Amino acid sequence: MQKYKTQTIVLVGMMGAGKTYVGKSLAAMLGRKFIDLDKKLEERCGSSIPEIFAVEGEDGFRKRESRLLKEFSETEGVVIATGGGVVLREENRKILRNSKALVVHLNINERTCLNRTKGSDRPLLQTPNPMEKIKELIDFRTPLYREVADIEFDANGSHCDRDVLEWLQANGLEGSKND
Ligand code: S3P
Repeated sequence: MQKYKTQTIVLVGMMGAGKTYVGKSLAAMLGRKFIDLDKKLEERCGSSIPEIFAVEGEDGFRKRESRLLKEFSETEGVVIATGGGVVLREENRKILRNSKALVVHLNINERTCLNRTKGSDRPLLQTPNPMEKIKELIDFRTPLYREVADIEFDANGSHCDRDVLEWLQANGLEGSKND
């Protein structure tokens, strides 16, 4: 694994894994810019993700997501949060595997995913049995997250941002606003 101080960090993992929270926190602690791909997509499109799913279907959303990943994955020295389904397309996995970024998998179990997404408007979870859907998604996606990730963290607790920071520091990757 190639490692250097200003390496971009890309967070992957299920909905509710805390990619946005951990990403924002890490970016603040490291003095880096934070990029949320879902938010960028909504800004570019002028519509919310549920609206994009409703109008263009999941496939339309995935095409937009791939374009944005391509655009931002080579940005240096930033922290990027991806959407939970970014690993579904082989072209995206290839980008992540080949990118110079450090890809971090925030791993959560079904229970955490359900608790953190309860009542949200995420299109894929608008089903009569969200737990069943979450189990199916986790089973299918976990190997894909692992295929692209350089490292995995248990993100079921509330200290994942600090765990990642500690790991970065232990591996000489820490940065600060004054570096
Ligand atoms: C999705 C996750 C969402 C968003 C979209 C699809 C998924 O992002 O991209 O609703 O397929 O898991 P978060 O992982 O930030 O919730």
